[in-house]
Amino acid sequence: MKNERQIFIKEIIKNFSKSKKKIPSKFHYDLKGSKYFEKITTAKEYYITRIEKKILKKISEKINTTFKGFTSFVEFGSGSTDKISILLNKKVKYYIPLDISFDFIRESSKKLHRNFPNLKIIPTYCDYNKFISLPNKITKIKIGFFLGSSIGNFYNGEEKIFLKNAKKTLGKNSYLFVGADLIKNKNILEKAYNDSGGFAARFNLNLVRRMNNEINTKLKINDFKYISKLNIPKSTMQSFIVSKKKQKFFINGKKFVLKKNEKIQTETSKKFTFSSFKKLAKSSGWKVNRFWCDEKNYYAVFLLSS
Ligand SMILES: C[S@@+](CC[C@H](N)C(=O)[O-])C[C@H]1O[C@@H](n2cnc3c(N)ncnc32)[C@H](O)[C@@H]1O
Repeated sequence: MKNERQIFIKEIIKNFSKSKKKIPSKFHYDLKGSKYFEKITTAKEYYITRIEKKILKKISEKINTTFKGFTSFVEFGSGSTDKISILLNKKVKYYIPLDISFDFIRESSKKLHRNFPNLKIIPTYCDYNKFISLPNKITKIKIGFFLGSSIGNFYNGEEKIFLKNAKKTLGKNSYLFVGADLIKNKNILEKAYNDSGGFAARFNLNLVRRMNNEINTKLKINDFKYISKLNIPKSTMQSFIVSKKKQKFFINGKKFVLKKNEKIQTETSKKFTFSSFKKLAKSSGWKVNRFWCDEKNYYAVFLLSS
């Protein structure tokens, strides 16, 4: 997208000028980053995708009788179309995948079209931190999806703003399925974010590659390492890239210095309880209609209604 590079540069300058550096995870998702994320979902330690897909299969048995009439599926942060294809049925006329990684969703929409030739797919670039308006021509009944535990990836309580905006986007009498990762054993969580295949590391270090590509920062990926730890009081997995040495880089002539062992936060992944999620939904103007979870209570998908 035209302004995407400018937004990226501005955000990198802003965040690398602070003593506590935090980069929103949306900046990992260029085409390469999305492909790294897909790899994470195949890691044996990363239970999230496997469990969520099982739950979606259960939901798919009921979904076409739950909603009367033709529907449009609207997916925020759709990524690959693997999960939505579990849920699609003949009553779904339109599918609108919304994502910041446009080249990736264009590719995945083509794949989906081959399997669902009658479905009208409208891949749309967006930053879902902002309000999104949908095309007028789609059906009245709109069912939203926000999967992959992306609801946990916002800093500073921005998930509330997201949920409020999503409600406006989907309009009156709408529904939103939200996948949320639940609080669990520290070891299981830390293994999931530090997979033995090194996919999470590559995904987070992709930020350095993107900075080199788009801002010519000339950093070496090997001069950084990746760590991810559970912050117990915040019930949040926090991921960082760490500068292995003192190093500097320049953006538009401005010098940035990274200290040895300085951490740059590259991801936040909040974990919920049933009640903390319900509280969040309520405070954002949604009602929890029902929810599904696995037998170990590792993960839940909530159906919210407006
Ligand atoms: C954690 S992945 C989940 C992907 C997929 N929904 C799944 O369940 O596997 C997050 C997805 O949201 C997209 N994304 C992240 N931040 C975004 C933003 N601010 N606006 C739009 N899309 C965003 C990414 O490109 C990516 O496809």
